[in-house]
Amino acid sequence: MILSPSLLSSDFGRLAEELAALEEAGLSWVHWDIMDGSFVPNITVGPPVIASLRQRSGLFFDVHLMIEAPERHLAAFRDAGADMLIVHAEATLHLQRVLAEIRRLGMQAGVALNPASPLSLLEYVLDDVDMVLVMSVNPGFGGQRFLFPTYAKIRNLREILDARGLNVKIQIDGGVEPDNVAELLRSGADVLVSGSAFFNFPPYAQRRAAFEKAAGTTK
Ligand code: DX5
Ligand code: ZN
Repeated sequence: MILSPSLLSSDFGRLAEELAALEEAGLSWVHWDIMDGSFVPNITVGPPVIASLRQRSGLFFDVHLMIEAPERHLAAFRDAGADMLIVHAEATLHLQRVLAEIRRLGMQAGVALNPASPLSLLEYVLDDVDMVLVMSVNPGFGGQRFLFPTYAKIRNLREILDARGLNVKIQIDGGVEPDNVAELLRSGADVLVSGSAFFNFPPYAQRRAAFEKAAGTTK
């Protein structure tokens, strides 16, 4: 299991300290939620904020774009220091082109699906991605309740990936907490995003240990 804490629930006034604390607690990934007030109702931060924190952090920057027409901003996020760029399948008319462009720019490519979106949207782009983000809440806010149909969606996706022999990670985002970690992993998830259930329970090293205990690993 890879745990990717979502900064949406961190203290935005102390982002540099929060990133340092994550690294100190043994985390290797961090999840940035980028919202434009159009694709989702909320607005967060953009490339300048990521760029200024990039210099201070060795964490893997997993950047979740909840923005319309993400193709307008790919190079800006690459220049800011994103390692993985995730776009929503619902947010662009030219998904394959966007995913290919993310890789061409030297980043890993991810594609996200809203809870109501079927896996069939991805049928012809699975060769173009390093990760699929299955949203387990409707994007826009932290602290929402996990949606149970997500388990079946993960199992179906894992089957499709295995049948095609593809090495693509499955990431889950929304309402993830130690109580549902084991079932998410059993269903086939690899990367778990957690905002409120992580940041609201410091110290972070102990919280990380709680997630890992729930996962049954001792890393
Ligand atoms: C929601 C974001 C999530 C959010 C998850 O739109 O994509 O990353 O921070 O928050 P929790 O873990 O609190 O559901
Ligand atoms: Zn997210």
